[in-house]
Formats: sequence, C-alpha cells, structure tokens
Amino acid sequence: MHLIGRSEARSRAGARTRHGSLVKGVASRRWVSLACALVICTGWRTVRGQSTNSATDAATSRYEFRQEHDPNGIGKFYLGREIAQVMGHQAADWLERPEREAEEKPGLLLEALGIKAGEAVADIGAGSGYYSRRLAKLVGEGGLVYAVDIQPEMLDLLTNKMAELNIRNVKAVLGTLTDPNLPPNSIDLVLMVDVYHEFDHPYEMVQALCTALKPGGRIVLVEFRGEDPKVPIKRLHKMTETQVRKELADAPLRWVQTIETMPRQHIIVFRKN
Ligand SMILES: C[S@@+](CC[C@H](N)C(=O)[O-])C[C@H]1O[C@@H](n2cnc3c(N)ncnc32)[C@H](O)[C@@H]1O
Repeated sequence: MHLIGRSEARSRAGARTRHGSLVKGVASRRWVSLACALVICTGWRTVRGQSTNSATDAATSRYEFRQEHDPNGIGKFYLGREIAQVMGHQAADWLERPEREAEEKPGLLLEALGIKAGEAVADIGAGSGYYSRRLAKLVGEGGLVYAVDIQPEMLDLLTNKMAELNIRNVKAVLGTLTDPNLPPNSIDLVLMVDVYHEFDHPYEMVQALCTALKPGGRIVLVEFRGEDPKVPIKRLHKMTETQVRKELADAPLRWVQTIETMPRQHIIVFRKN
C-alpha cells in the first residue's frame, strides 16, 4: 500500500483557498481517514520513495510538534513559526486568477531579479507555472528553467500549459519534501514565490538548494508581508522579513537585500557564499 504523507493527504483531501477554508477534493473521506490513522499510528510519513519520521525530527530538536495549533498549519514548528499546509492542486485556478496581475505586479518582481539570457533558474514550488512561463522568456532559448514541485498534478498542469504555448526551455522536476532533485552547482537563481512557508522540512530544503546553486548564485524568497495586517492572506501563509532571515541564518548564504517594490510581498535576496 502506498502510504502518503501528511501534506499530500491534505492536498488530496481538499485544496486550500487563501481566503476561505478547504474546497472539496478528489479523495474520499474514508480513504483519507484511513491514511491519516496509519500516519498517526506509525509516526512515519513517506512521500514518493522518501520517508521522514517525526520522532527523528523531534529528536534532533530542529522541529517542534504541538497538539494545539492553527487550523491552517501542520502542528510542526521551525524556530517559533508554524509551517503552513500545502496548497493543493485543486486550487490551482487561484494561482492563475486574472486579478493576480494587479494584486501582485509580477513585472516588478521580474525586473528586480535582473535575470540574464542563458541563465539556469529554478522555480521551486512552481505550481501551475505562472512564474516559470515568465522566467522562460527572460532566460531565452539558451537558458533553462527548472520547474520543481512535489505535486505531480501541478506539474501536469504546468507541462500542458507549456506545450500549449510552445515553451521548450522549462523542465518539470518532481521534488520531495527534503530535496528539489536538482543537479549540484548548476543553478544561477533559485526563486520561491509564496512557497517557503509551506516547506515541511525548511532546513533540509534550503541546504539542498544551496548544493544545487552555483557559487555566487542567488536564492530569492517572495513572501506575503507578515508585518502588515492589511495584506489579505491567512497568517501562516505570510512571513516577516525577520523570521525569514532567522531561518536562513544557518545556511551557507549571506543576505544581500530586501526589495519592497511589490504591493503585498517582500522580495528577500540571499547569495551563496
Ligand atoms: C502557493 S503555491 C505557489 C505556486 C507558484 N510559486 C506561484 O506563485 O504561482 C505553493 C506550491 O509549492 C509547492 N510546494 C510545497 N512544498 C514544496 C517542496 N518542499 N518542494 C517543492 N514544491 C513545494 C506546492 O505543491 C504548491 O504547488
């Protein structure tokens, strides 16, 4: 039997909307209950060949698990922050909503990134490919965009869209909760838009991303501003600049700058040492 992970069970059982609660998913409640019961009983979570153990996590004291927690979180905390639920592929339409252009102004982010033709860019947690498509244009035919996600359904949406638009320099990659499965020392820029706060294993993911980066390469996090109560996004799906910098402080990276040109999101830039 394929024992799915907590995040995966959540995303299959119901996709999260950013303003509302869960929307109905594809899996039957009974099947999800059975999977959850197994997960709770064994304490193991296995996602596509890679297993993690919450007892091991706790033993290393890197992560803390609490019974009482925000309903939009997974009850697992990293440096005082509760990790948010993964956005299920059933909510992919939210990523492609027409209002996104006005709310987010993606052009401002792309301008701030200063991407050059020929570069290798990794769009981590690419979802339906909203940013991968735009990045593909900037790196041009001589460049490559790795579109990484842990949900195969998201990657299916993404690859279909790329085929429809005849975009050939985007490579879809199925990652795991701890590893983006990218070649070492190969990436000029890692971009994570509205993703990092969902990482089940943020420490391990950042370490793996540093291994994939070329020396001097950049990691950029784009997160809804946790400091601003007017940003209409659930608390766990926002982050403060201070928390982001605290969580990445142990990585072989140095913080370069935080750019505040986007209406609702921080652009937080780090460079590999
Ligand atoms: C809110 S969506 C954002 C999608 C996209 N970046 C965008 O802005 O349109 C977050 C995505 O991150 C993915 N994700 C969560 N944890 C991940 C991980 N450890 N590695 C790769 N993708 C992950 C989810 O599956 C989901 O597709």
